[in-house]
Amino acid sequence: MAEIKSVGVVGAGQMGAGIAQVLATAGHRTLLFDASAPALEKGLAGIHSRLGQAVEKGKMDAATSERAKQHLSAAGSLRDFASCDLIIEAIIEQFEPKAALFREVDKILRPDAILASNTSSISITRMAAVTSRPDKFLGVHFMNPVPVMQLVELIRGLQTSDDTYKAILALCASIKKTTVLALDGPGFIVNRILCPMINEAIFLVQEGVAPTDIDNAMKLGTNHPMGPLTLADFVGLDTLLYILQLLHRELGEDKYRPCPLLVKYVEAGWHGKKSGRGFYSY
Ligand code: 3HC
Repeated sequence: MAEIKSVGVVGAGQMGAGIAQVLATAGHRTLLFDASAPALEKGLAGIHSRLGQAVEKGKMDAATSERAKQHLSAAGSLRDFASCDLIIEAIIEQFEPKAALFREVDKILRPDAILASNTSSISITRMAAVTSRPDKFLGVHFMNPVPVMQLVELIRGLQTSDDTYKAILALCASIKKTTVLALDGPGFIVNRILCPMINEAIFLVQEGVAPTDIDNAMKLGTNHPMGPLTLADFVGLDTLLYILQLLHRELGEDKYRPCPLLVKYVEAGWHGKKSGRGFYSY
């Protein structure tokens, strides 16, 4: 792969839409697909609205915003990805749906095209193994909100080639993101450290400390932009629980045990900001 010019993004949720936005803004031909037509529409509308806001705030000139819109289009089906140099998957965080998607796009894409997953937790080596091109497969884990956060964690599977890794490094540089190389293990770097910290904050809530006191302590005492409980609501309590369960299961240590209060909130449907209620009400 000489240079990645056209990218297909699968999944138009918060992460997928954010990824498509930064790619199109950097001038890559970007195709966004979602199996749900309303989700695709919502994702595209969100991108257009954020580009508009950036111009209004004077953070982006009108020509760049216009170019981004022109470089972005909706894919009617996965077959539209046939000429893409790279596919970035940002769908539901479960192995089987991701594997099914990769099996399908593997058949559609050119043999030299690269497959990437924005998974926050699933083994890259395991997903790569369902395709005919494990050497052209790797993890690209963006942070939420994608247009704002500087970092992308890159994860090489057992068989990821140097050429694939270099092509993705160049792509990340072109969208002005900073990369770090993580191991293909549970939680990579950020979630391995972040999720146990948030879990500890939830244990403190369970022991009777007020969420606002915990958040203020971490914001004012350690200069975190958001307190851990606000961040938990922002990331989604269901997502947080899923990652903690994975760390607990795969690393096998008590220190990763999800706080029972977190389990209870998720059981109640309190999934954070997206559901209107978590540690705070929205
Ligand atoms: N999409 C796009 N842009 C957004 C946004 C979103 N969802 N939310 C906020 N922004 C932009 C705003 O438009 C604003 O842009 P501007 O400076 O150009 O005007 C900028 O971000 C700052 O926003 P605000 O002034 O409204 O609010 P804050 O100053 O509080 O910043 C924040 C918001 C950037 C989200 C900041 O609070 C922050 O950095 N929080 C921590 C986020 C974090 O830790 N993310 C990583 C989570 S872990 C993860 O993603 C891994 C996953 O696997 C779980």
